[in-house]
Amino acid sequence: MNWYYGAMLIVANWKAYVETREEAKKLFALAKRLVVAVRRVKIVLAPSAAHLGLLAPGNRSKVMFASQDMSDTTVSAATGEVTGGTLHNLGVDYVILGHSERRARGESDALIAEKVRRALVNGLTPILCVGERARDEDAQYLILLKQQITSVFSVLAPKERLEVVVAYEPVWAIGKHAGDAPSPQDIGEMVLYIRKVLSEFLPGKSAAKATVLYGGSVEAGNIRAIAGGSGVDGFLVGHASADASQFTALVKALI
Ligand code: 13P
Repeated sequence: MNWYYGAMLIVANWKAYVETREEAKKLFALAKRLVVAVRRVKIVLAPSAAHLGLLAPGNRSKVMFASQDMSDTTVSAATGEVTGGTLHNLGVDYVILGHSERRARGESDALIAEKVRRALVNGLTPILCVGERARDEDAQYLILLKQQITSVFSVLAPKERLEVVVAYEPVWAIGKHAGDAPSPQDIGEMVLYIRKVLSEFLPGKSAAKATVLYGGSVEAGNIRAIAGGSGVDGFLVGHASADASQFTALVKALI
């Protein structure tokens, strides 16, 4: 197995798993300990918007924060929306956009592209989620993936494109267990394909250097093999990031 170079970025997407302030604080304290104990990992926590307001302000630790979503609006009469400026002012660094669980609620490629643009305007690093619902024999899923990337990158200025993190999350592999995730080799092929699509938008060798994450049933049992055998720069972790013992085992598996 090849081993990886540089630091692995671990984005902990708590989704709607954490409902109490106590649990949120406990998981934050754990992340602070892990990021110091385990060299070569960067940890970004993505709590609910409400818990971001609790945890992110005044954060001086090495742990960073992401929002699970963001509005495409700016300061306006827009009830219920959380703007990029609001997140930036809380001390949030990243924002997950185009997650399949948001696309399933009707988000279009055009809306996601606008959110990515607004994130960049507000100094947030967008984590653009792409991924197919199923694999088909005609490889239409590769065309879908290309469309998800192209619809965003084509509306960005050349400099903005360099800031976007891409997360490959095959929908069929989300919310299961390590054995259900694609193999490191399969993920490696998808990462290469994503970099090839990105090379149409990024100059020179930038596509090879772009940050590409994998998400979908990442657990302690498969993270090390994927880190070493697929060319990913990190992970977008769901259920295993919202459970203290599973998250500890998962991060420590990278030692
Ligand atoms: P699971 O790790 O629960 O499969 O979720 C992956 C995901 O959707 C992260 O954004």
